[in-house]
Order: sequence, then structure tokens, then C-alpha cells
Amino acid sequence: APSGPLAGRHVLVTSGPTHEPIDPVRYLANRSSGRQGHAIAAAAAEAGARVTLVSGPVSIADPAGAAVVRIETAEEMKAAVLAALPADIAVFAAAVADWRPQATHGSKMKKGADGPPTLALTENPDILATVGRLGEGRPRLVVGFAAETDDLIANGRAKLARKRADAIVANDVSAETGVMGGPANTVHILTADGVEDWPTLSKAEVGRRLVAWLAARLEAAG
Ligand code: C5P
Repeated sequence: APSGPLAGRHVLVTSGPTHEPIDPVRYLANRSSGRQGHAIAAAAAEAGARVTLVSGPVSIADPAGAAVVRIETAEEMKAAVLAALPADIAVFAAAVADWRPQATHGSKMKKGADGPPTLALTENPDILATVGRLGEGRPRLVVGFAAETDDLIANGRAKLARKRADAIVANDVSAETGVMGGPANTVHILTADGVEDWPTLSKAEVGRRLVAWLAARLEAAG
């Protein structure tokens, strides 16, 4: 049997972007690489947990020791997350598309005399908020990310409350930080107790520290 601070625990992690289809060949997406979420899944497995990683389309390798569930859309991610419960800890590191095309065309959209089409969008389900608000079956620790370019801490605090998360990992994703797709991250851990500012670390190290921090919290909660 595995040993380590998370032995006997189930950790669920979401990672990567989602792809929201417009037609059979086009989709809406974002610049998430999946590096941070995958690093958290790897660190949790290293800490002895059983790990389920629900990942959008990424070009990086699967983390060692995690069961990977591959999805494309936000709705598929939500279904995979709910199917993977119960979990002791859930970390939502995926960059889920806020919107998806209202309708997916069954065949490739053609250029025509009418000019460019208008893309009508509809809101995607908020997976973190759905899990954070679960009564029965809510993981003991529910952690979200807040990728922001402005008002990092204030926006992170608002997410902590709105999504009923136990912690929000806030990071600045302004282009000049190189966080999106890059190897390093500077994060702030927001909880009801306040904010911890962590130094700039590799995403692997952020993953290890976050897992150690979560293991200690779970231990303290009994
Ligand atoms: O509201 P915003 O998208 O900035 O919140 C970010 C956090 O919420 C991340 O933890 C992200 O994984 C999660 N999220 C989600 N489902 C969505 C949107 C965001 O789980 N549809």
C-alpha cells in the first residue's frame, strides 16, 4: 500500500483548457498548458494519494501515478468530476471556458455572401462552484485557482466566497509574468484566515507545497 501524508486519500484535480466546439473543425479555447494542474496531480500521487486527473486537451505528458480522464468541453469536465466523487480533496486548476457556442454546427461553416457569422455564446457550468456548494458528497477541501490580470487579491476573495471554496490559489497571469504556459508561478493562498504570499517557484514546487499544505489542513481537520 502507498505511504506518505496522503496515503488512503482520494485527490481529484482538474487541469488544462477546455475546447468548446463551433463546428467539426473549429473551437474556442485558451492558453492554459495544464502544467500547474498536472504538477499538483503528480505531487499528490507522490504523497501517496489515489489521484484522479480530469484534463482538457494538453500537449504535456500524463503525471506518474494518476488516473487520467480526458475530456474536451466544460460540460464533459463537469460530468467527469461528478463521476469521480467522492474525494477527500478537490483542486480545480483547469482553465474552464466561461462560454461555449450556443449551437454547434454539425458541418463545417462556409464562407458566403452573408459575410462573417455571429457567434452566439452561452455560459458554461461553474464546476468549482457546483462542487463547493454540494451538501452530501462535498470533498473536505475544495480548492480553486484565480487567474487574474487585475485586482488579484480582491478578485480571489470574491471567488472564495462565491464558489464556497476552502482556499483560492491566486496568480497573476498578465502576459509579462509568463505564467500562462511558462515553468514558474507566483501564488497567493487565500483562505477565510487571510492570505499567504508564496515566493516565485517552479510549478512543480508550487504543486508539492500545495499538496503539503493540503495534507496538513486535512490532518488538522481530523
Ligand atoms: O471564475 P473563474 O473562472 O476565474 O474561476 C476560476 C476557478 O474556477 C478555477 O479554479 C477554475 O478551475 C474554476 N472554474 C470551474 N468551472 C468554470 C469556471 C471556472 O471549475 N466554468
